Amino acid sequence: MPLVSSTPMLQAARAGGYCIGAFNVHTLEMLQAVVEAAVETESPLIIQSTVGTVKHLGPEYIAAAATVASNLNPRIPIALHLDHCTEFDLIVRCIRAGYTSVMIDASHSPFDDNVAQTKRVVEVAKPAGVNVEAELGKVGGVEDDIVVADNEALMADPDECAAFVELTGVPTLAPAIGTAHGIYKGEPKIDFDRIGRIASKVDVPLVLHGGSGIPEEQVRRCVALGMAKMNVATELRIVFSDAIKAVFAQNPDENDPRKYMVPAKKALKEAAIEKMRLCGSFGKANDFR
Ligand code: 13P
Repeated sequence: MPLVSSTPMLQAARAGGYCIGAFNVHTLEMLQAVVEAAVETESPLIIQSTVGTVKHLGPEYIAAAATVASNLNPRIPIALHLDHCTEFDLIVRCIRAGYTSVMIDASHSPFDDNVAQTKRVVEVAKPAGVNVEAELGKVGGVEDDIVVADNEALMADPDECAAFVELTGVPTLAPAIGTAHGIYKGEPKIDFDRIGRIASKVDVPLVLHGGSGIPEEQVRRCVALGMAKMNVATELRIVFSDAIKAVFAQNPDENDPRKYMVPAKKALKEAAIEKMRLCGSFGKANDFR
């Protein structure tokens, strides 16, 4: 099966009260690990790459690898998403390369400009059957080159969310609700009441950013309130890198990449399975047959 748009997947997740894990990958082995996790748990999957990774590897290589994964595993719906992109031209290049979902992140711009930039992307993506995600408010923390200090993080306003979806026609929305990119210093301070108010005004699937380190009970509350996609990046990078470091700690002279990539892949697969369990997505791939 070719890569699919994430729009129907996420609509089904919101309607069904579960969430789909969206995992940032940076290497072929990371991509294979999250695919193996989805196959083993029969979970729908969103593979993501940041702008930094797209520039590092090239969107065509990433899309080719994701397409192979999708064709080899026809029982699992797989979407390929571009995370936090601020550049219209790069979005178009990724869509041409085969991405089935893109995020236009104009959350740093004033509301009207965010609307205009998002609308422009929706206009090119929708006819191509490609999902679009936009952000309102500002998610704190560090994601690739995007850095938002704690005192600059800004919660999304429910009425603005409703107006934004209406004005742009965007099919998925990432409202800032208190989570942050990176590892939390304490527990995240999620504004559950705000998620509920946003979800009551906006019927498109909502996206939970900053999925690393959110305690299980908090993830479940977010999902119950309407979060249909959970982005996870930092935790997966750490698990993957730690497994490689462990190999070198044992054998500093190791020089066969397969020797350190195999345990790294295994560790990442297990971490992704755990996130899919939190999302409640086990077995949900069967709904798409
Ligand atoms: P974390 O790095 O905190 O998991 O956040 C990922 C994310 O939201 C990517 O958009």
